Amino acid sequence: MTLLNDDEAARLRQELDQARQTIRILREELDQTSRGLVVLTLELDRKREEIQNSTEQLWQAGKLATVGEMAASVAHELNNPLTAIMLWTEKLLMDMPLDHPKRAGLVVIDQETARMARLVRSLLVSCRRGPPLRAPVDPSEEADGTLELVRHVLQKQGVAVVREFDPGSPRVQADRQQLRQILLNLITNAVDAMPRGGTLTIRVGPAPAAEALPGSVQIEVADTGQGIPADVLPRVMEPFFTTRPEGRGTGLGLSICRRIVAEHGGTIRIRSTVDVGTSVLVVLPPEGLPTAARTPTT
Ligand SMILES: Nc1ncnc2c1ncn2[C@@H]1O[C@H](COP(=O)(O)OP(=O)(O)OP(=O)(O)O)[C@@H](O)[C@H]1O
Ligand SMILES: [Mg+2]
Repeated sequence: MTLLNDDEAARLRQELDQARQTIRILREELDQTSRGLVVLTLELDRKREEIQNSTEQLWQAGKLATVGEMAASVAHELNNPLTAIMLWTEKLLMDMPLDHPKRAGLVVIDQETARMARLVRSLLVSCRRGPPLRAPVDPSEEADGTLELVRHVLQKQGVAVVREFDPGSPRVQADRQQLRQILLNLITNAVDAMPRGGTLTIRVGPAPAAEALPGSVQIEVADTGQGIPADVLPRVMEPFFTTRPEGRGTGLGLSICRRIVAEHGGTIRIRSTVDVGTSVLVVLPPEGLPTAARTPTT
């Protein structure tokens, strides 16, 4: 057995210390890596859940599209019998003496069938599929047509409607059906935000000069509902973002609105205050402006 001299012992001790330090560093690195792995596994779980949810929502969206198509074909089928009823009622009314006791009944039939025909037309316009068809449209007229579609829902839920349509506001170059889709989505969201009733205000008028091209039109859909918390607001236009319970919303409404508005060269903004209400402002460029000259800012 050889005895170590002092120098060698000191060197060995130093090497041992170094080895211990290396082991400590390696252990820390290992700890860190396993912590990272735990985080990654959690993230992976979250992503898997997100994909599952998105698949579910896509399926829901598909179902909605099918319901829309069914509604369109039913509306289409209703058109012919309705026209026949209307024609016959008109003929009977023409032939009937003005003081006939049954005349009042026929007048009611006449008015109610006319209302049904308007509803069917609105449904057909709202459900139409196919390439966008741009033409000059009057946003106030489209707002009226859309409100007609949801009239009974508004009544049932105690929602009062205020229409502030500026008679001088210009028309826009838009796809009617897509414009109605925007209005329907915004009105539906507003109604959902007022489960105990409230006021739905629709304003149509020239867009504020500072914010848009001259001749642009602003359509505002405002409610007195629950509002959107400030931390949620930046996310509401993301596809599939919803705060509704499972199966109640696809979270596609506002993202579809944003896409359509952008395709029309317009902008969409949302202002909201919790417990006060929400206002969605859609600005569309004036009729006759070539699409290429428009720069969507949203
Ligand atoms: N007027 C509003 N008042 C309060 N919250 C709103 C309003 N409009 C939208 N939101 C919020 O934004 C979310 C996203 O709206 P969006 O229309 O995109 O989807 P959704 O209404 O949840 O589902 P879908 O429209 O597909 O049925 C809603 O879940 C809701 O939290
Ligand atoms: Mg919606």
